[in-house]
Amino acid sequence: MSEAEEHRGGPDRAWIAQAIEAIEADVNRSADTHLLRLPLPACPGISLYVKDESTHPTGSLKHRLARSLFLYALCSGRIGPGTTIVESSSGSTAVSEAYFARMLGLPFVAVMPRTTSAEKVAQIARYGGRCHFVDGPGAVYAEAERLAASLGGHYMDQFTYAERATDWRGNNNIAESIFAQMAREPQPVPAWIVVGAGTGGTSATIGRFLRYRRLPTRLCLADPSASVFHRHLADPSVCTTNGPSSLIEGIGRGRCEPSFLPEIIDRAEAVSDPASLAAARVLSDRLGRSCGGSTGTNLWAAARVIAGMAAAGETGSVVTLLCDSGERYRSTHADDAWLAGRGIVLDREIAAVEAFFAHGTSPDAAQAG
Ligand SMILES: Cc1ncc(COP(=O)(O)O)c(C=O)c1O
Repeated sequence: MSEAEEHRGGPDRAWIAQAIEAIEADVNRSADTHLLRLPLPACPGISLYVKDESTHPTGSLKHRLARSLFLYALCSGRIGPGTTIVESSSGSTAVSEAYFARMLGLPFVAVMPRTTSAEKVAQIARYGGRCHFVDGPGAVYAEAERLAASLGGHYMDQFTYAERATDWRGNNNIAESIFAQMAREPQPVPAWIVVGAGTGGTSATIGRFLRYRRLPTRLCLADPSASVFHRHLADPSVCTTNGPSSLIEGIGRGRCEPSFLPEIIDRAEAVSDPASLAAARVLSDRLGRSCGGSTGTNLWAAARVIAGMAAAGETGSVVTLLCDSGERYRSTHADDAWLAGRGIVLDREIAAVEAFFAHGTSPDAAQAG
């Protein structure tokens, strides 16, 4: 066989087969994540569930995405033995991809904002990955592309490929798992699912699955105030923001990412950073499980949805996500001195979330009152 013929099928097929087998074996060793029920005695007829994605082997919902991105790139012939994997990330995806890169024996470089939490940086290094820092969330894309080209590697590009790498019709994606776990609940078809968007991959998978299965569940986007996504939903001509970026890592972006599908979002809720951080603390206490900031964004938005349902006399279930553990932010969000250094005090917002649980009122109303 000539060299040209040998290369026509892309990288080494035997190696690709082994790599896919290694990933499938990892899936086989893993359990599904828990769907936790959070009592809401103040809202009779409404139930709240939290899917705990922090229990994946790499600690966040990004384990699903990283697995899908590797399978997508392998099956597309884009990575082979020795390919350096480069990714732009706010940290969580890079942690999960570093894990899979190590599993396949591939070098991995994460291009991330300098502000990424030290815990995530340490986790990437633990999996043998290298971190390459840039000066802001907006600088990650071009630098990752440049670096991949200069290393002769592959830019995974989660922001472009998240929506197509995941099999949204099923294959135990996050949406299929939620509906399977809800099957024996009193209100098995949620009225609402509330999620944040980083790449937009999770919201795209859920929104498409709802349509494909012809389910009446509506999708609410929980978005940091500094993010462009909710602005874009209000005014489609707005596709970027230049303001300061959010403190909530993983969700909210300054540009409309290619994987974010606005057409399948039914409602968007903008949540301030203090509100997100306060909600994460209250939820951590109530669940006895530590939650990161983006989970707080989800809870605050879910509380608005639930308070609206209660006020309108509606009943039903609401599902949201525990995206990653607060342990990842022990030196930042969980540290009062770190918050005080940024002029953030959470007392009012914490009281507002407690008031939601006590009375079923919107946390915004409690805050204003
Ligand atoms: C902690 C955390 N929560 C939520 C998300 C949102 O997920 P997606 O990228 O699927 O929109 C991310 C994404 O980076 C994240 O890191």
